[in-house]
Amino acid sequence: MIEVVHTIKEVRETVKGWRKEGLSVGFVPTMGFLHEGHKSLIDKAVEQNDRVVVSVFVNPMQFGPTEDLDKYPRDLAADTRLCEAAGANLIFNPEPSEMYAEGFCSFVDMNGPTSELCGKSRPTHFRGVCTVVNKLFNIVQPDRSYFGQKDAQQLSVIRRMVKDLNIPVEVVPCPTVREADGLAKSSRNTYLNPQERQAALILSRAIKLGQRCVEMGERDAHNVVKAMKELIATEPMARIDYVEAVDLDSVQKVDKVEGDVLFAMAVYIGKTRLIDNFIVNIK
Ligand code: PAJ
Repeated sequence: MIEVVHTIKEVRETVKGWRKEGLSVGFVPTMGFLHEGHKSLIDKAVEQNDRVVVSVFVNPMQFGPTEDLDKYPRDLAADTRLCEAAGANLIFNPEPSEMYAEGFCSFVDMNGPTSELCGKSRPTHFRGVCTVVNKLFNIVQPDRSYFGQKDAQQLSVIRRMVKDLNIPVEVVPCPTVREADGLAKSSRNTYLNPQERQAALILSRAIKLGQRCVEMGERDAHNVVKAMKELIATEPMARIDYVEAVDLDSVQKVDKVEGDVLFAMAVYIGKTRLIDNFIVNIK
C-alpha cells in the first residue's frame, strides 16, 4: 500500500526507517496531475531503487505573477492510483506553508544556464525550481532523482546545481514520452480545446523537421532554427515565444551544430504555452 504524507517530518521518518534497513531510495519530483511522462520516470526509479518517493507539489515560487498557478490542474486521488500501480512507496504532498514557512527568505539562484530560453521569458522560474528541488533533495535525501528531457533546460540547470553545490544525488535523465500523434505529454495539454489540440501538433512537426535538417547535413544552427520557425508560422493558432539552438550543458546559444546541441522551443497555442525540444550529438 502506498502512503501519502503531507509533512516533512513524516517523510524523514519513513526514509530513516528504510535507510536503517540499508535500502536505496529513488525520488521523482513532480507538480502532480500525473501522466505517462511522469510514469516513465517513476517506472525507472522503481527499477533502479528499493524504495521510491514521488513528490506532488505545485510550487508557487516557480510561477510568475501572471502565470497559471491557480488554474494548474490537480488530482491527488488519480495521482495516488498511478503511483501505487507503478510501484512507488511514498507520496509527499505538502501544503505551500509546509515548504515555505513564515519568514522564508533563502534561495538557490543561478546565472549561466538560466539566462536563455525559458529563463528569458520566465525570469524568476528557475530560481523557484532550484530552490524547491534543493529543499526536496534535503528532505528526501535520495540516492537518485529522475528528470524528464521534455524539460531539457530544467535538466541542465539541475545537473549544474548538483555539480556546483556538491549535492550527493545522482541525476537520471529520462526520454520524452509523446502521444501517438507526436505531441509531448504535459499536464498543461488539458488546457487545449479540440482545435488547439490539433494545432499543437505543429511543435512535434517542427521537431521532426529540425531533426531531418540535421540528419541531412545542415550544420548552421540558424538555418535549422529558421526552417522550424517558418513551419510554425504556417499554423495560425501558434505564436512563437522562442526557438533556439544552445549548447546542452551551458545552455548558451550556438551558431554551429557540433557537440551536444539542444534545439528548444516554447510556442503559445491560444493562451497555452507549450515547450518541446530535441537534442543532437554531432561528433
Ligand atoms: P512537472 O512538470 O510535473 O514534471 C515533473 C517531471 O516529469 C519533470 O522532470 C519533467 O521533465 C517530467 N516530464 C513531464 N512531462 C514529461 C514527458 N512527456 N516525458 C518525460 N518526462 C516528462 O518539472 C516539474 O514538474 C517541476 O518544475 C519540478 C521539477 C517538480 C519542481 O517543482
